[in-house]
Amino acid sequence: MTPPASKTAPRAKSGILDIQAYVPGKSKAADPTLVPVKLSSNENILGCSPAALAVYQAGADHLNRYPDSTNADLRQAIADRYRLEPERLVFGCGSDEIFALLNQVYLEPGDNIVMGQYGFTAYAIGARACQAQVRYADEPQLRTHVDNMLALVDERTRIVFFANPSNPTGTIIDDAEVARLHAGLPGDVILVIDGAYAEFCTERGFSDGLDLARTAGNIVVTRTFSKLHGLEGLRVGWGYCPEPVAAAVDRIRLPFNVNIPAQEAAIAALADQDFQERSLQLVQTWRPWLIQQLGGIGLEVIPSHANFVLVAFPQAPDRRTAAAAEAYLAERGWLVRGLKNYGLPDHLRVTIGLEQHMRAVAEALAAFMKG
Ligand SMILES: Cc1ncc(COP(=O)(O)O)c(C=O)c1O
Repeated sequence: MTPPASKTAPRAKSGILDIQAYVPGKSKAADPTLVPVKLSSNENILGCSPAALAVYQAGADHLNRYPDSTNADLRQAIADRYRLEPERLVFGCGSDEIFALLNQVYLEPGDNIVMGQYGFTAYAIGARACQAQVRYADEPQLRTHVDNMLALVDERTRIVFFANPSNPTGTIIDDAEVARLHAGLPGDVILVIDGAYAEFCTERGFSDGLDLARTAGNIVVTRTFSKLHGLEGLRVGWGYCPEPVAAAVDRIRLPFNVNIPAQEAAIAALADQDFQERSLQLVQTWRPWLIQQLGGIGLEVIPSHANFVLVAFPQAPDRRTAAAAEAYLAERGWLVRGLKNYGLPDHLRVTIGLEQHMRAVAEALAAFMKG
């Protein structure tokens, strides 16, 4: 007997097809003859540590081997560097995977997560995949707002996510505010402090959350090798969790989720202080420069603590729009990030690049604004 037509095709779980897939930064120009400079994904423009690259290339000799599923050497290297208990670390294919794993471990259908209005979209995608709801806290002045977050927490809230510094805004909240957010949460709600950009912030009163997490039973701090270390393509992230959280995540992760060259290159990258210093120096030099230049041509630039800046375009009726600026830059080979899908259609995000990139982008935007 032929089954009814509606039963012949696989059907995604309820809610899956309502999820908007993650939109990455553009990497290609419309003109195929143009080799663009990509300033749209907050990548490290300097590349990566030469030592990490050498180790990665040597890793090609053992592609027939499974990786160490416990990440023992990388685990020890991170534990030593940050003075953490090795057994409290978890590893992922980027920190993205750690968000997804936490969602899978803690969310039942009908539970919810709380995150900021402009928060990183990966948190929400993973939560929705678990048939949980996403509650967005308003972010006045484009900053994480502790009271707005706490006001959304209810008995079905399992996880509160925020990045510090935040993406795409680049803003931070200080240690006292982070502590207040944590203190306002019930002990069974996990607070995820996403530190993807933590190394770029040197502001007094800011820290990466690891110290607070040491003694808390419900804080997870995530970090990545994708930004300061320039290993975006290798996909290595880690999380510092309370031990029971780490043990639960470990039960469901894929057994070999960080590959051999990635583990080895991450260890080498962590040891390469010179590359880290150069990467930081570049951002610390050209971030304030770009902010000042763009301010001088009538654009508002949100004070950023990460390796990018968020630029606000004027809202007057006959204005020059962010979308037109994005297209104008792309035609000239400069790819920046439009933020319509973050609810910021009047903003563009620009990753800090080399001196010549920053000068050229500032010049192009000045010409664009003049019309
Ligand atoms: C705030 C934030 N968290 C996490 C990530 C993901 O990093 P990873 O490459 O480790 O998955 C990004 C990447 O852009 C990010 O902006």
